[in-house]
Amino acid sequence: MTKNKPQLRSRSWFDDPDHPDMTALYLERYLNYGLTREELQSGKPIIGIAQTGSDLSPCNRPHLELAKRIRDGIRDAGGIAMEFPVHPIQETGKRPTASLDRNLAYLGLVEILYGYPLDGVVLTVGCDKTTPACLMAAATVDIPAIVLSGGPMLNGYSGGRLCGSGTAIWEAREEHAKGELDYEGFMKRAADSAPSAGYCNTMGTASTMNSLSEVLGMQLPGGGSIPAPYRERGQVAYHTGQRIVDLVREDIRPSSILTREAFENAIVVNSALGGSTNAPIHITAVARHIGVDLQIEDWEKHGLDVPMLVNLQPAGKYLAEDFHRAGGVPAVVGELSKKGLIHEGCLTVSGQSIGENCKGRGSENSDVIRSFDKALMPSAGFKVISGNLFDSAIMKLSVLSEDFRDRYLNNPDDPDAFEGDAVVFDGPEHYRKLIDDPSLNITKNSILFIRGAGPIGYPGAAEVVNMRVPDYLLRRGIKYLPCIGDGRQSGTSGSPSILNASPEAAVGGGLALLKNGDRIRIDLNKGQANMLVSEQEIQSRQQDLEAAGGYAYPESQTPWQEIQRGIVDQLSEGMVLKNAVKYQRIVAT
Ligand code: FES
Ligand code: MG
Repeated sequence: MTKNKPQLRSRSWFDDPDHPDMTALYLERYLNYGLTREELQSGKPIIGIAQTGSDLSPCNRPHLELAKRIRDGIRDAGGIAMEFPVHPIQETGKRPTASLDRNLAYLGLVEILYGYPLDGVVLTVGCDKTTPACLMAAATVDIPAIVLSGGPMLNGYSGGRLCGSGTAIWEAREEHAKGELDYEGFMKRAADSAPSAGYCNTMGTASTMNSLSEVLGMQLPGGGSIPAPYRERGQVAYHTGQRIVDLVREDIRPSSILTREAFENAIVVNSALGGSTNAPIHITAVARHIGVDLQIEDWEKHGLDVPMLVNLQPAGKYLAEDFHRAGGVPAVVGELSKKGLIHEGCLTVSGQSIGENCKGRGSENSDVIRSFDKALMPSAGFKVISGNLFDSAIMKLSVLSEDFRDRYLNNPDDPDAFEGDAVVFDGPEHYRKLIDDPSLNITKNSILFIRGAGPIGYPGAAEVVNMRVPDYLLRRGIKYLPCIGDGRQSGTSGSPSILNASPEAAVGGGLALLKNGDRIRIDLNKGQANMLVSEQEIQSRQQDLEAAGGYAYPESQTPWQEIQRGIVDQLSEGMVLKNAVKYQRIVAT
């Protein structure tokens, strides 16, 4: 695997005899905290540690400690570590939405990796958007890079029952709305769901993206699932530090790892995980930055018929600690490989292929990670939906409850399609204000819509499509209504939704023309969702909308909101910054 030793790029900063003045200038300030000239001019690789942890980012805070073990590994393997901060992205703490900051962190990290004397980088990831932001930057710059997860939280318990982060809150808010759980009880349940340091312990966006970074080949085998407090977490941090030094010496870059086949592996594993609906957005973004043509249709083509093997909340029963004990990602890849569903030849940061990494691996707890004959669900991938409301949207089939399937899909007269009446909300604030208002007259035959929630309408795309039904329906035992929207939804939510609709209302998508009471027909088998409104009426609404100056959305509150709104792509295209995509592999091989 070892190639001819490449000239390290850091030497053009620290040891360029043709430009002694510049070398002196670059060197002297890195000496002032105790590094020596001998070290910086020794020809040892300089390895960045992209630190995403901070007090503002609790999910990634374990990295503040783990960085010490990464440093030990780098030093022992003959490298020099330089740790630096990445713009924080805390999913649950950032207003208006953390996803606004994914592209900002990406841009910042690209500048750092390109503009400083780094030969390779350890990407510390965890909370939802930190993984894609780091992978996108590594893809653009294309210097040797390796991912280290901070690890999920331990299992949460409440009243003796497993209690998973995010999911517990979606459930508790219903009990609270029905008057079954008081404020104190609600807050206690939330705290119980987050029992230790680490990121979400459900198969939400964080565990999905950490697992998929391993499947893509960017993380050492097993590294995506070790709980944050476990002994192995520090140990894999040490090995990650060692390994990045070798990756620099071997000149193995993201572009040799992030291939078309690797992305197809990620799609397949995502179905087996019951993974988050945010995965298509982020995986598409990484693919676009490395120059792999991945379309939303690829999710259905490669992923729809893959069964769900991992029994984790929100689609299943267990939590991340159980997933790790059952063998984690290598066990899932091992099970899928038995059926020939994995491109086994894909190179990984271990220096071996994914097939070699996972050879002979399989489930170590057959209820948590199932075999094919005991799969939790036959087709667990995303269905791609289109029609006169949008060009594309996705639906996560793995979370459709029995009750939902019985009510809507197993109807003997019409097994694949159902109709309902639209109730339309314009953005999250409108929905929150009106959802319990009886005058809207929401019934069990309603379909809830939310628009103005896409990357431009609600800068960064709001996680709101999983709308709670009104209190008065909850009290009558109706837990879910079909929800459709141009926003996203939390990966920890089990709501039956058609989401990530593109183009969004704010750029003239069909959702902008919808009115309360419009009849909607959804045919999941054909992958169609349409408003049953005449072509003439649609044209007339279109003219009215244009006369009004287009779909109105709230003004930007910060400079970045305004800047991003001007250059961001739609969710089906990964919500990337359009003019960033042409910058690929910007550090030449
Ligand atoms: Fe950070 Fe879920 S909120 S991982
Ligand atoms: Mg989320």
